[in-house]
Amino acid sequence: MQEHISTGIIGTGSFLPDRVVTNFHLEETVDASDDWIRHRTGIVQRRIADINTAASDLAIPAAEKALRSAGIKADQIDLIIVATITPDMFFPATACVVQNSIGAKNAAAFDISAACTGFVYGITVADQFIKSRACKYILVIGVEVLSKILDWSDRNTCVLFGDGAGAAVLGPVRKQKGILHSKLRSDGSGGELLMLPGGGSRIPPSNYSIENKLHYLKMSGSDIFKFATKIIEEATLEALEHCDLKVDNIDLLIPHQANSRIINSAAKRLKLPLEKVWMNISKYGNMSAASIPVALDEALAERKIKDDSLVLLVGFGGGLTWGVTVIQW
Ligand code: UT7
Repeated sequence: MQEHISTGIIGTGSFLPDRVVTNFHLEETVDASDDWIRHRTGIVQRRIADINTAASDLAIPAAEKALRSAGIKADQIDLIIVATITPDMFFPATACVVQNSIGAKNAAAFDISAACTGFVYGITVADQFIKSRACKYILVIGVEVLSKILDWSDRNTCVLFGDGAGAAVLGPVRKQKGILHSKLRSDGSGGELLMLPGGGSRIPPSNYSIENKLHYLKMSGSDIFKFATKIIEEATLEALEHCDLKVDNIDLLIPHQANSRIINSAAKRLKLPLEKVWMNISKYGNMSAASIPVALDEALAERKIKDDSLVLLVGFGGGLTWGVTVIQW
């Protein structure tokens, strides 16, 4: 009988554009105040890519850092998964652009569109390939250049988001370590709450789609807010129960960074002290699929995750989608 193997995150990396755009910068161009943004969202600044930067330009350096941190060469990678809602283009997949650039000549490559849950979807898919021994090493990247799909005159959305990339190399680890459990969910009936309506086969690009601003992200903020607060708590408790663990066992919860009020309220409902909850939204805003892997890379760099730490990643967002991964470091 084959020995059971687990999937672990064996290296991480991140890459953020240099340009910092503060709330005060935005005050100059849109009818929004630093005070409102800071108090309603926790965001103080975000990174914004320059006009010529596409998703792969952020994903590639993040991937290279993750490979270095894992001590893995690009040609050892069997699969590249890029989670993004702002790919370089519809096709080829941004994962293929990354594959070519880093020289991962033995890798398959595809993109996943699960919005802010994208990275959790990506590592859950990767886990199946590794556990089944179809692949040994997999690169999962969460990357967004959301600045390219924002209406910079709409204060309800443009102040919330930022650009960035985070990457992880997954590979086999000792039994009892690594991903203990993952659960992915969706509810397409809430699709219209967060969407980019134009540019696809339903409403192809046209003068009509541009004039009606259908190529920009649309969000029903307060509906997503209610969903998000409930889902962090529910998904966390369900996953803990599945693993026969309790809230007290959590060493670090890394939730998607959409709003500090969502995170604070979920932590309160869970009775989880805030020092066990990663929060970096003040620096980067909401980077959708990139938020969790960037946070993970930071938490590792700051040694908030140690050998044997129990880490939960909780994603939620467009689709609607949500998902949780429980990792024993
Ligand atoms: O990434 C995953 C998905 N995204 C999320 O999880 C985001 C979830 N939603 C949220 O974080 C919050 O709902 C928002 C931050 C988007 C909005 O906060 P809110 O407390 O739900 O505010 P609201 O939408 O109820 O708006 C309150 C007021 C409105 O004015 P009126 O109608 O009360 O006069 C808005 O027009 O705040 C106004 N407002 C602003 N004012 C100044 C909205 N955006 C701004 C702004 N500056 N940037």
